[in-house]
Amino acid sequence: MPQKPAPAKRKAAPRDSLFLTNVGQLLTLRTASPKSSPRRGSDLNELGIINDGAVLCIGGKIVSVGNTKDALHDPWIRKHRKQITEIDCAGKVVVPGFVDSHTHPVFVSPRLVDFEKRIEGASYEQIAAAGGGIRSSLEAVRNAARPALKMKVLGVLQDMAAHGTTTVEAKSGYGLTLESELKSLEAICEAALGWPGTVVPTLLGAHVVPKEFHGRSQKYVEIVCKEMIPRAARRNLAQFVDVFCDEGAFAPEETQQIFSAAQAHGLSVRAHMGQLSETALAPFLRFDPVSLDHMDHVNDDDVRQLAKRNTVVTLVPGANYFLGLKTYPDARRFIDAGVPVALATDYNPGTSPTISMPMAMSLACTQMKMSPAEAIAAATINGAWAIRLAEGKGSIEPGKAADLAVFDVEDYREIAYWYGANHCWMTVLNGVIATCQ
Ligand code: NIG
Ligand code: FE
Repeated sequence: MPQKPAPAKRKAAPRDSLFLTNVGQLLTLRTASPKSSPRRGSDLNELGIINDGAVLCIGGKIVSVGNTKDALHDPWIRKHRKQITEIDCAGKVVVPGFVDSHTHPVFVSPRLVDFEKRIEGASYEQIAAAGGGIRSSLEAVRNAARPALKMKVLGVLQDMAAHGTTTVEAKSGYGLTLESELKSLEAICEAALGWPGTVVPTLLGAHVVPKEFHGRSQKYVEIVCKEMIPRAARRNLAQFVDVFCDEGAFAPEETQQIFSAAQAHGLSVRAHMGQLSETALAPFLRFDPVSLDHMDHVNDDDVRQLAKRNTVVTLVPGANYFLGLKTYPDARRFIDAGVPVALATDYNPGTSPTISMPMAMSLACTQMKMSPAEAIAAATINGAWAIRLAEGKGSIEPGKAADLAVFDVEDYREIAYWYGANHCWMTVLNGVIATCQ
């Protein structure tokens, strides 16, 4: 096994060393030439598979990757084999831990009335206009104590890990007052401390205009820009600022205002864009958004512009599935044009109550015609790009975080194939093992 760091200096194997052997397919996501940008086009199919693979992790990092036969002959491993935790994967598949780059975990209750109304034929927009939707989730979050929110988020993170996710972007956005947005971010940060994986918090104070600001959206935008963003930035509670830019939410001009405030406070930006209607992207690209998400509606010119950039288009087909839509974002159009795409769950109570990245991948394959290989790359390395963590996450390479998901299947394509069942057997989060079943 190549590239093991300084083994000669180690007297005993550190207690936190972990050695996975007999991996049927080890999906490293390594490419022939190293990439300094998100995967696009045919690169999305390059999974860097090692058959009968092995991975050695020490101190929460991957230190070497190769095949089992070579690894077992490695002098350092032979010497320390008794001291390291060895896991015989017995032909299972190992992938980089999924990076769920778009989730909304800070809410209290499911929206079952919305669910029933939609089944009866009402649309997402009609339900929102009639007092359901995002606004109907606000009161419970405003009234909730922070520890209760923290426990909700922690439970979600644990469920996610049991399905193979090791890194999560988590948004606020169901409080929509200064106090309750900061409380939501604090709950995310506190939950993150109790979870071995990695959490990236995002301020989504601009989710919708709350009803007390009805007809005065500009006043609310000022609160987002002048109170929420500065406070969240000062207290290091968020790494990104997100805006729901669409009909019934925030206008393009308001979104630009919020992006400007975010940048002024050193926060990077991302947006829910093109979910319900098309918005021209040109005015936003100067803010270099790390990701534009949903993107059901987009024009050809903007697709061409995106192909020249590292802004990731994050596709969330769970939302289309759960809203019962007949159409899905046109993943093939993006991929074939050279736009980098990621996949995420969009976990939230209104449009996508799933924590399962394998489910998102299955939908990507069946509904958006992505290949299983493209779905893996979109759910791992490109997810990492979508939250600016690609240097340390999203592939199985020496120096990166020991974030792994072991699936009890023989072929990686089964991860997207067996939809609705959880075949994740074990997850390793920054070197910490979580058993799934
Ligand atoms: O990503 N579109 C905006 N936000 C969420 C939905 C939130 C909700 O309905 O509670 C989404 O689909
Ligand atoms: Fe969302």
